[in-house]
Amino acid sequence: MLTELEQEKIAARANTIDYDRVASLHYLGNYVRRLPTNMARMMENAYDWEHLPYVHPSSFASIDLVASGSWGWRARIGVPGGLEPTYQMLDLLVDAEKNYWVSTVFNGPGEGIEIHTQATTLNEDEIEVDVRFYLPEAPGDDASASILSYMQSQYATLYDEDIDLMQGRQSALEDRSRWRAGKNARCETRVGALSELDRTKTHTIETETGRYCVRVWQDEWIAHSAVCPHQLGPLQDSEIDPEGRITCPWHGYQFDALSGESRLTECPALAKAPELIVRDGELFLLEA
Ligand code: FES
Ligand SMILES: [Fe+2]
Repeated sequence: MLTELEQEKIAARANTIDYDRVASLHYLGNYVRRLPTNMARMMENAYDWEHLPYVHPSSFASIDLVASGSWGWRARIGVPGGLEPTYQMLDLLVDAEKNYWVSTVFNGPGEGIEIHTQATTLNEDEIEVDVRFYLPEAPGDDASASILSYMQSQYATLYDEDIDLMQGRQSALEDRSRWRAGKNARCETRVGALSELDRTKTHTIETETGRYCVRVWQDEWIAHSAVCPHQLGPLQDSEIDPEGRITCPWHGYQFDALSGESRLTECPALAKAPELIVRDGELFLLEA
């Protein structure tokens, strides 16, 4: 539930970047980084509000979306670490043509901070981001350097975490087109000898149609897709919880490991896994 004050402040926000505003702000400094990803993945990441508490848990405890669109998104963010729950209102406005976005804290701790990011393509696989930090007012002399170094180190962590997500997403898209080409293939893929397979581990097996996890659940070998149907996140590292669910590390969507059913109506079920068969003491995935 949003407070009245939060609702008022939301109503006062515009959905377009006011480029002239920076003239009235205090420029603190910037953080520049070359990133091994392409612009499509970077822009996707900027729009992707849902990954924040999952991929960046040290910076975001929770997120509740207020609105989103081609202009960007606006949300209430849980600030991690406090004894009491603390919230910030934040929006991220995108100028897609310029590969430029601005995130602004407009309520709560840090209110008035604006962070402007310009992304630039360097080559097919690399971009550079220039992240510029603005404060509503100049801090005292002693504080400037420490605030700047805090923000630079926070952004270094955020981009370390985002590189894995953006590269993982790019290779997941490439895998998907390879697997599509392999569809209709009838094949058997060996998992291993039952006497040798470690029953405490998840065995990740790639076939011609996809990637699957083979593991023991309630004393039986089961197979489920290792690819999240939301945005192709990796499911192989998710433990099965006591209720039989696995959780995607990118946006936290949950699936029943046995049936593949999604816990969210807006997300489809996992792709059907091949049948598990045993022949001569060996376990195979059978795609018909
Ligand atoms: S990729 Fe988004 S929840 Fe899995
Ligand atoms: Fe991110």
